[in-house]
Amino acid sequence: MKNDGPDTGGKAILVTGASSGIGRATAIQLAAAGHTVFAAARRLDRLTELARTTPGTVIPVRLDVRDPESVRAAVATVAETCPDGLDVLVNNAGYALIGPAETLSTEGVRAQFETNVIGLLDVTRAFLPQMRARRSGRIVNISSLLGAITVPGSGIYGGSKHAVEALSDALRMELKQFGVEVVVVQPSFASTDIDVTQHMASGGGAIAEYAPLERQLTAYLDEQMQKAVSGEVVAACVVHASTTARPKARYVTPQREAVTLGLLTALPTRLTDALKLRLVRGAAA
Ligand SMILES: NC(=O)c1ccc[n+]([C@@H]2O[C@H](COP(=O)([O-])OP(=O)(O)OC[C@H]3O[C@@H](n4cnc5c(N)ncnc54)[C@H](OP(=O)(O)O)[C@@H]3O)[C@@H](O)[C@H]2O)c1
Repeated sequence: MKNDGPDTGGKAILVTGASSGIGRATAIQLAAAGHTVFAAARRLDRLTELARTTPGTVIPVRLDVRDPESVRAAVATVAETCPDGLDVLVNNAGYALIGPAETLSTEGVRAQFETNVIGLLDVTRAFLPQMRARRSGRIVNISSLLGAITVPGSGIYGGSKHAVEALSDALRMELKQFGVEVVVVQPSFASTDIDVTQHMASGGGAIAEYAPLERQLTAYLDEQMQKAVSGEVVAACVVHASTTARPKARYVTPQREAVTLGLLTALPTRLTDALKLRLVRGAAA
């Protein structure tokens, strides 16, 4: 990664979804670099353990991004230590509902968007007033490669991440006047607690005609997860995006995936549809 500024430490940074995976690794790396880290998630026991075992300053914050009262309480908790608010907010909390769109319940789809999109927006809006007042701050939104490209089965999860992309682009332009920066990180597959085949393993099969596609998708996703980078690799990119002096608008991680992303977005759609279907079918062959 290009070094476009030193990490001087000492920032107040809140990471959502810090109880596992990318968020947890990000919290650890930020604390090691000397930042004050507010580690937020629903599972407080995990955060307490993280704070106890991590060198540096890690403050556990109970947060359910879908619960407005919990979001308000998180702002109050941060204010106890940092009355001027956060320097950086890392919106990482999220999960993946993957499967053929027709097979997913409306309730499930709604919950996916409530966590990955509305939750992210609400947390952002809760911490923005102080950043706006100070005329400084940074928001780092964790999207996905599936926020830029679509494969079969990714309509809902990818749809939520496409929304994160659009929201981040709009916010970046809207907040520029207030000195608040907005950065997007697009991870490829990373081995964390994320379960990308859960729906197909449990709720899937409800429509028999989709069973072959669900099998192919499961095989494809399992194959990708075996090649996945660690959460720490993605976290290093998130840390860079959070602390470098002049961040890019978007980071792909691992960097090598930028080529795939460039190709898949440049080629004609009919051609990339055929390529993606062949990839997914090939995994189950
Ligand atoms: N792993 C990948 O392959 C991959 C690829 C691209 C993008 N991503 C994105 O990276 C982010 C982190 O995922 P991960 O892979 O690290 O998964 P993970 O290990 O399952 O971690 C997800 C985190 O989100 C938190 N979370 C979920 N719902 C929440 C809610 N309502 N309120 C607060 N926290 C909530 C969980 O904490 P609690 O359950 O304790 O609340 C947990 O800490 C997600 O946005 C995901 O979409 C992951």
